[in-house]
Amino acid sequence: MRSLIDILDLTTEEIDALIEKAKDIMLRPDAYREKCRYKKLATLFFEPSTRTRLSFEAAMLELGGSVLGFSEAASSSSAKGESVSDTVKIVSGYADIIAMRHFKEGAPLVASMKSDVPVINAGDGGHNHPTQTLADLLTIKREKGSLNDLTIGLCGDLKFGRTVHSLIAAMSRYKGIKFTLISPDELKLPSYVKNTYITLKNIPCTETNSLEEVMSNLDILYMTRVQKERFFNEEDYLRLKDSYILTPDKLKNAKKELSILHPLPRVNEISTEVDSDPRASYFRQAKNGKYIRMALIMMLLGVE
Ligand code: NCD
Repeated sequence: MRSLIDILDLTTEEIDALIEKAKDIMLRPDAYREKCRYKKLATLFFEPSTRTRLSFEAAMLELGGSVLGFSEAASSSSAKGESVSDTVKIVSGYADIIAMRHFKEGAPLVASMKSDVPVINAGDGGHNHPTQTLADLLTIKREKGSLNDLTIGLCGDLKFGRTVHSLIAAMSRYKGIKFTLISPDELKLPSYVKNTYITLKNIPCTETNSLEEVMSNLDILYMTRVQKERFFNEEDYLRLKDSYILTPDKLKNAKKELSILHPLPRVNEISTEVDSDPRASYFRQAKNGKYIRMALIMMLLGVE
């Protein structure tokens, strides 16, 4: 039995196979309608979510399975003081696979050690978000044709942005990758992520405060929201929240083939005027999330 807690729990070959499977599901959805018949997915979400939870649920429904779960800690027994371990032990008796989001880093890992069924990390605090990364990789593959030879700019809250940490880990395994880290000093990439996936792997990397300065070099621009819920005080959040706002004007000297990604939700980081630019890939990215989660559920349930 396998869980997905960290994106690197998957080999590069497995990721490539998931991407190919997701593309096939898009082409031939009818061939997959019964694949998970009589299987149940439990979504245990202790933190807010729209895309992740609903795309997981849609994914299971489109595979012919069913879903159960809760979407806030307050409506589960954790409000009565139940531990994550106990909750998961119980739910693994009701469902065939579990997707869990938790505000505590490491909670899905603990859950996977107690569970009798596969556990998928659907985001743990400011740590990791491997299934968003799968959606990101599918998007990059579809938009750029390859996961190699890309200059990837990551912009915004690189400190608390869990999607950024997982994406850097995943991309560090491909060839010809260069990272450009764009953030205010207070929201720089944590050193454990930088050391493990960039420095130790000798991956070219530049750090800057200025998006304008680096825009013309980028193949991918990954925008992120400043993670309000991880701040200790409101004042710092208010000061930093609008550090970067992408507008059509700022895209003037960007490459024609640039691809703009954002895990969403956006708050202010991308002006809605950018949405009609063909380089804006974020709505396609959100849709891709459903297909790659279908592929992942099938893989972890051993369904062919
Ligand atoms: C992200 C998350 O939850 O980390 N959202 C998502 O799952 N698509 C990004 C965010 O909340 O900013």
